[in-house]
Amino acid sequence: SKAPVRVAVTGAAGQIGYSLLFRIASGEMLGKDQPVILQLLDLPQAQKAVQGVIMELEDCAFPLLAGVVATDDPNVAFKDADYCLLVGARPRGPGMERADLLTANGAIFTVQGKAIAENANENVKVLVVGNPCNTNAYIARAAAIKVGRTNPNNYHGMLRLDHNRALSQLSAKTGRPVSSFKQMVVWGNHSPTMYADYRFATSNGDNVKALVNDAVWNNDVFLPTVGKRGAAIIDARGLSSAASAANAAIDHMHDWALGSDDWVTMGVPAPAGNSYGIPEGVVFGFPCECKGGSFKVIEGLEIDAYSKEKIQKTLDELEGERAAVADMLK
Ligand code: NAI
Repeated sequence: SKAPVRVAVTGAAGQIGYSLLFRIASGEMLGKDQPVILQLLDLPQAQKAVQGVIMELEDCAFPLLAGVVATDDPNVAFKDADYCLLVGARPRGPGMERADLLTANGAIFTVQGKAIAENANENVKVLVVGNPCNTNAYIARAAAIKVGRTNPNNYHGMLRLDHNRALSQLSAKTGRPVSSFKQMVVWGNHSPTMYADYRFATSNGDNVKALVNDAVWNNDVFLPTVGKRGAAIIDARGLSSAASAANAAIDHMHDWALGSDDWVTMGVPAPAGNSYGIPEGVVFGFPCECKGGSFKVIEGLEIDAYSKEKIQKTLDELEGERAAVADMLK
């Protein structure tokens, strides 16, 4: 049998944590033959709640769960970690400006990026879920680069929920099952500016753009529905979209670790000289191929005028976020 791998999860006492940890422990993320040790990080005041979650993990008697560590110290949580899911973040409080939110999270993710680079496995795969996730991933990566040791390409932000939301909307529009769709892409920031793009998508071999053939729906219904889905769920449920966010995190890590025969949208550091003109290192939603534990941005897709404008808009937003945290990275 395989040796256990170490999976660090931050914000372990939170809502997403409650949907995520049980699925990791049951083998849904890394495979039903892969034992895992969970290393749970949360704030000091959340440690009692983390203990409650651990009691429930124990009571599931998961055959693959080879150990659990609970801590409020990032250096302990990330020690020898093979995978890090950074879910905990500072939420936007009353009267908090966007710039305050960015710097409050900047402080968290500089500490965590450094702690990962100093303590984790050199090949660690890091996924930032906590918002603003693209910029938080960018910050963690920048802090990690200062330390060296880990792979700078392995600091990701989560765009997979947007990808999955887009698939469900396309399924509803066309009456085709979600599983029929391939080659979906969501470009840019995990925010309402993201650009969900089905120009390259197929459904059982049919071109999805031709199948939909409805530019008004695309612009006035599809993009706003996908972009504002998080707010719609908070409005309906009184709570955020924790289960679907956890599901998307499982999907992202699963495909990265074990591969996929489809395109996968990942928020990844833009490769130097990429064909889309995204500045190197900006954590941006791109179509990726995943194979053998690594990923590659799919280059050279045609970008028409409409798409160019959409991609520029979401890039401009990310560049604004980057400027707001630039001082913290000196
Ligand atoms: P939550 O408030 O229920 O839980 C957050 C947990 O993180 C709490 O237990 C808190 O104590 C902990 N935490 C805060 N700061 C921490 C730190 N510095 N280190 C370790 N733990 C820390 O929130 P929920 O619903 O679990 O959401 C977590 C994050 O995920 C939020 O930032 C949310 O905006 C984001 N999110 C991202 C999505 C995406 O698609 N990228 C989708 C949905 C949510």
